[in-house]
Amino acid sequence: MKKIITIVGARPQFIKAAALNRVFRRDYSGQVKELIVHTGQHYDESMSSVFFEEMDIDPPFVTLQSGSGTHGVQTGKMMIALEEVLLSERPDAVLVYGDTNSTMAGALVASKCNIPLVHVEAGLRSFMRTMPEEINRIVTDHVSTLLFSPTQKGMDNLQKEGMSSNGHRPFHPENPGVFLCGDVMYDNALYYGGKSEVAAEIAFLEGRKFVLSTIHRDHNTDHPEVLRGIIETLMHLIDTYQLEWVLPVHPRLKKNLEAQPDLLAALQSHSKIHLIQPVGYIAMLQLEKMSHMIVTDSGGVQKEAYFAERPCLILRDTTEWTEIVETGRAKLVGADPEKIRTAFGEMVTAQFAEWPQLYGDGKAAEAIAAEMMALMQ
Ligand code: UD1
Ligand code: UDP
Repeated sequence: MKKIITIVGARPQFIKAAALNRVFRRDYSGQVKELIVHTGQHYDESMSSVFFEEMDIDPPFVTLQSGSGTHGVQTGKMMIALEEVLLSERPDAVLVYGDTNSTMAGALVASKCNIPLVHVEAGLRSFMRTMPEEINRIVTDHVSTLLFSPTQKGMDNLQKEGMSSNGHRPFHPENPGVFLCGDVMYDNALYYGGKSEVAAEIAFLEGRKFVLSTIHRDHNTDHPEVLRGIIETLMHLIDTYQLEWVLPVHPRLKKNLEAQPDLLAALQSHSKIHLIQPVGYIAMLQLEKMSHMIVTDSGGVQKEAYFAERPCLILRDTTEWTEIVETGRAKLVGADPEKIRTAFGEMVTAQFAEWPQLYGDGKAAEAIAAEMMALMQ
């Protein structure tokens, strides 16, 4: 029986992990045991346990208490605790997802313990090293044994950095296996998106014409004037186009709105603006489909906008998901009020007949699991 330790810690990683957890249990139950280690980076019920329950993910085998903090404190705490777990469990492989501090902490510890590291969502680059996520991605890719890229662009990025597969096993960090596999988030959007009964907490929005937003990037939330510029511009646009606005509020946004009480009060007192708690994944997929348009700085939500066939404004200057911008279904607007206004006006009336499939065939997790099993033989 092989043993995999999957390291997760932040909301998007619980969601991504669901796809492989499902496949390992369904197709390889007698051959592999997956143990999930939760770093504790996200800990609110609405940012963490809700996903394990509704997506039927194995409960964490260990939850570390890393919590919030500066990058050094948070990553350092994770590394100390993760090392203990890996040294005592000695898994056959460690699996990490995406680009958070939990990803990088897991990657560094696994590689230094000489345990084969598997990175799902490899090769993505924003080409902005001021983004903490960009550092996390680069470090993780460069110490991985198996790299699974969701896009051809990701494959090209890896090749430029000297990582491409020669196809010859055994794979190891000097001879990594690099695979194009599609996106596990697309697998999940198909798998969980079919539920027809609208989640109770969002039922009041049925039949309304609304823009859906999530905002949590440090470069948007942590600078008071930047955040104010985004919020005031969008409030004005909501009024101009007679729309409603729904914002499931990420804890980082909550903290930064509370630091600007007049801005928070303006949002709360507006009858067409709905600040709601972060919702579960199934409710989020439903909100995306119910929405008229999506405005976000989230990596995952900009892609789900595409899956749901909704135009999207991306509150960032660059994206690692360049395909959706190239198709014209999403526009990069940064935090620039003028760009937001212009793009909003164009996208709010845009009609797109076709949404070509960009992120695989919904079976990325199956392909990844098969390669991981081969790695561990
Ligand atoms: C993290 C990831 C980011 C990812 C996002 C997904 C890093 C560097 N950033 O950003 O890439 O897009 O998760 O949502 O890893 N907080 C709570 N409750 C929680 C979690 C956080 O109140 O359960 C608050 C704390 O005040 C904390 C702040 O949110 O300081 C930020 O949390 P943190 O995990 O450091 O970064 P995120 O912004 O969530
Ligand atoms: N999401 C969710 N509830 C919310 C907001 C987002 O379930 O209230 C989901 C969303 O559907 C997507 C993922 O969280 O699958 C994206 O995570 P997030 O935006 O936190 O991080 P990022 O993708 O930017 O790293």
